[in-house]
Amino acid sequence: MSLDGKIVIVTGSTRGLGLEIAREIARNGATLIITSRNKSKLKEACKLIDRDCYGFQLDVSKRGSLTAFIKNILKEFKAVDVLINNAGFPFERKIWFKKIHDISQKELMNILQVDLIGSFLMTKEILKLMIKKRNGVIINITSTPAISGHICGSPYSIAKAGLISLTKHIASEYGQSNIRSYSVALGNIYTDSMRVSLSKTEIVKAKNENIMKRWGRPEEVAKTIVCLVSDNFSFSTGNTIIIDGGKVII
Ligand SMILES: NC(=O)c1ccc[n+]([C@@H]2O[C@H](COP(=O)([O-])OP(=O)(O)OC[C@H]3O[C@@H](n4cnc5c(N)ncnc54)[C@H](OP(=O)(O)O)[C@@H]3O)[C@@H](O)[C@H]2O)c1
Repeated sequence: MSLDGKIVIVTGSTRGLGLEIAREIARNGATLIITSRNKSKLKEACKLIDRDCYGFQLDVSKRGSLTAFIKNILKEFKAVDVLINNAGFPFERKIWFKKIHDISQKELMNILQVDLIGSFLMTKEILKLMIKKRNGVIINITSTPAISGHICGSPYSIAKAGLISLTKHIASEYGQSNIRSYSVALGNIYTDSMRVSLSKTEIVKAKNENIMKRWGRPEEVAKTIVCLVSDNFSFSTGNTIIIDGGKVII
């Protein structure tokens, strides 16, 4: 699939899903902008991707960092064709397994600040460039509990549900400007963060939750995203694409 000539931003892309998405997009010919809060991680990831790749520091929860990032992008690139809001608050067991009545306001706000508000603010800035060009695709990485609910992890689900709404608004408000948007709702995808955060028993339990009885692979997500940003999806927008081995069927 050719993404030649496209300039693509993937947030939170020096490890896990973000890195895999970035690699697959670069393999398909796009110029890639990757981000991390950590400068040295950016260098390593650009080396690994080994294509047309530029690393920029970005903390989506800090207004100053966002402003500096946008300023740098404008200086270097002038246009952006694709934004993938992948950055997410790290999976923390002590928050994930809590029920609503035990969650502090700070825990809730920290997650909303990165996953939802950070993605909203990035979208708002990048949209201005896309509107000028009358072209663009914005993908929000979300999660199946945002659709189905879950027995724990409400701050993550609430943030990700907000992203599904954001996607629908981007599609509705900017469709006429030839800007498309999709939510990619993930089930259990076997990234390093999952591997180190969960016990062996939890890993087996998660594997058996879906009808395919396995974890998803990061490259399966990355390949779907390349299809979505390509012209093959040119008359489809606002949708939620579920990648979860068939656990949530709607
Ligand atoms: N893996 C799964 O099963 C699964 C399921 C559903 C949804 N998801 C979603 O998929 C995305 C990636 O998941 P993953 O498993 O690859 O997680 P991960 O390894 O924890 O990666 C999260 C990324 O987000 C970045 N990040 C965190 N806080 C940030 C901030 N304040 N500003 C900017 N970037 C920040 C991190 O970058 P730095 O630390 O380098 O700054 C990191 O690259 C997340 O949005 C997650 O919620 C994953």
